[in-house]
Amino acid sequence: MAKILITGGAGFIGSNLAHALVKDNDITIIDDLSMGKEENIADIDVTFYHHDVCDSAFMHKLLSENKFDYIYYLAAVSSVADSVVRPLETHRVNQESVVDTLEYIRTEKLPIKKFLFTSSAAVYGNLPDFPKTETSHVDPLTPYAIDKYASERFTIDYGNLYNLPTVAVRFFNVYGPRQNPESPYSGVLSIITECMKNNKPFTLYGDGLQTRDFVYVGDVVNALIKLATETNESTVYNIANGGETTLIDVIRTYEDISGIKLEITYKDSRHGDIKKSKADISKLKNVGFEPQWSLEDGLRNYWKYYSEN
Ligand code: NAD
Ligand code: UD1
Repeated sequence: MAKILITGGAGFIGSNLAHALVKDNDITIIDDLSMGKEENIADIDVTFYHHDVCDSAFMHKLLSENKFDYIYYLAAVSSVADSVVRPLETHRVNQESVVDTLEYIRTEKLPIKKFLFTSSAAVYGNLPDFPKTETSHVDPLTPYAIDKYASERFTIDYGNLYNLPTVAVRFFNVYGPRQNPESPYSGVLSIITECMKNNKPFTLYGDGLQTRDFVYVGDVVNALIKLATETNESTVYNIANGGETTLIDVIRTYEDISGIKLEITYKDSRHGDIKKSKADISKLKNVGFEPQWSLEDGLRNYWKYYSEN
């Protein structure tokens, strides 16, 4: 039984990860509930701290008292658009808290087995090379992307400079149960699900031809556990499905699955929005990962979960 810390563990991906790990491990979660929800983890036996990861003294105490084996660092202001509105506040969470944690682990020589940081496909920006491999050029266009890239580099360089066991991942567009739809900046499929369920109109920013590599959260959780427990190199991996779908196509597929027609209002595209996104996932496949969920199966499961809860 390993001791595991999940920062941001009451959020969408963190709570799905906690559900997958809880059976065989001792899980601690810290989350300020800015986007996460306690109900996401109410049905599992974890130690939960409703707290801000930017509280350095609290984090240091938590780390020194527990001697975690694995740290999955997911706490972040996860919205690109929100970071454009609040660059300094989001920077404190998305970068400073990460470096502070790494530095404490280093200086206190904490005996961790792995520190895993969750970065984003947003680091690639709008450059033409396609699909995106981990060696593609980066062009972070928003405070969110800048902080993700910097924190990812800190994570990898703490591995290479100081021999800490670290790894970083770049998620593409993750969807599935427990994604919070309540913010205007929430993930698009959570907003669409909410609109379908409540017969509300959906605002589509842009022409609907922007593409994304949508990956089901079940695949993401499996990839995270594999990278934390089965790899030894401080490096970065794309986590995605490897497909590319326009927003309008994903809506049509989802309409077929739910049997509900979405009412769409079109507005201008958002500032800093990425036009095309698709991952090359060869590096992840080389460590033995295969996505198990097609977009159709993932959407079907998401709709089923939503209908039952
Ligand atoms: P999420 O917003 O559901 O999860 C982030 C969690 O962090 C939330 O529960 C939030 O309450 C918590 N949090 C925010 N600020 C905090 C603070 N100061 N102290 C403590 N907790 C804090 O989003 P998610 O989709 O689960 O994302 C998890 C991670 O993956 C984030 O780092 C995000 O940037 C990254 N990511 C997500 C996607 C995606 O498609 N969902 C894609 C790329 C990267
Ligand atoms: C998402 C993630 C981000 C991650 C990135 C990696 C969230 C909230 N954002 O950003 O953390 O780093 O993937 O690829 O999970 N849209 C609408 N109407 C809406 C909402 C969105 O048309 O109501 C459009 C957006 O303008 C965008 C597309 O849908 O073109 C996807 O938006 P969103 O789900 O916010 O994802 P990303 O911006 O790609």
